[in-house]
Amino acid sequence: MEFTNSWGNQFRAESYSKLEFPNTYYLAYRDLPMIISKHITGKKAIDFGCGTGRSSRFLKQFGFEVTGIDIAQDMLNIAKKLDEKGNYQLVSNGKYSHLGMEQHDLIQSIFTFDNIPGWENRTQILVSLRDLLNPSGKIICLDSSSEMYKNEWVSFTTKSFTENWHAKTNDIVKTIMLDVDDRRPVEDIYWTEQDYHKLFDLAGLEIEETYKPLGLESEPYNWISEKETAPWIIFVLKKKVKK
Ligand SMILES: C[S@@+](CC[C@H](N)C(=O)[O-])C[C@H]1O[C@@H](n2cnc3c(N)ncnc32)[C@H](O)[C@@H]1O
Repeated sequence: MEFTNSWGNQFRAESYSKLEFPNTYYLAYRDLPMIISKHITGKKAIDFGCGTGRSSRFLKQFGFEVTGIDIAQDMLNIAKKLDEKGNYQLVSNGKYSHLGMEQHDLIQSIFTFDNIPGWENRTQILVSLRDLLNPSGKIICLDSSSEMYKNEWVSFTTKSFTENWHAKTNDIVKTIMLDVDDRRPVEDIYWTEQDYHKLFDLAGLEIEETYKPLGLESEPYNWISEKETAPWIIFVLKKKVKK
């Protein structure tokens, strides 16, 4: 089945740009300040798959000098409109060397690999991103957990997509976003945690830590699955040391 990036059109881009950190999205971003301060030294960052710039603006709050990169011009146009002085660039897969080899302290990737099909394609992209890291640089890679597509969430419904239940790594899965006006199904690429481990190994990356944020009773949200099951998975990655 052919996979097309759901975010490569103006209507979707505009709808996405109105999202801030509602409901289940809150859990994606909630622990990032702690994760960043624990694992990252230095302030030179790339936001891979910056979209309309939400994740780049988030990083900037913590003093990072951020270059946002994406393959969707419609998303970048909005990022630029919302942050006129920001640095947002259109890229094509794996071609990032002009951004500065071995110069970056952090490469942040939030919800981007959910949209990237293929083992080879993913590996090549990760290797090219790894080449941008300085020796102590890290990648923070946040994506949907494999449970995302089999449960109900405050921000997403998946129950009409029973085919999600049988998905294997690299299959297309569907969700409907409930926080935006555009209720057309969004297509993602399913990837298990175990296969993320294989992928990182193939790309010469090592996992420093994995986080699976859960919703808390005390939070002002009507959590559905979020207290028992993590909707997101966050990997902190470093370059594998050559032996
Ligand atoms: C769901 S949006 C997330 C945007 C942003 N990181 C955030 O948290 O708001 C995913 C973005 O990844 C981008 N993307 C998909 N495939 C990509 C690729 N191969 N290289 C760079 N960006 C990609 C999409 O165009 C889209 O803007």
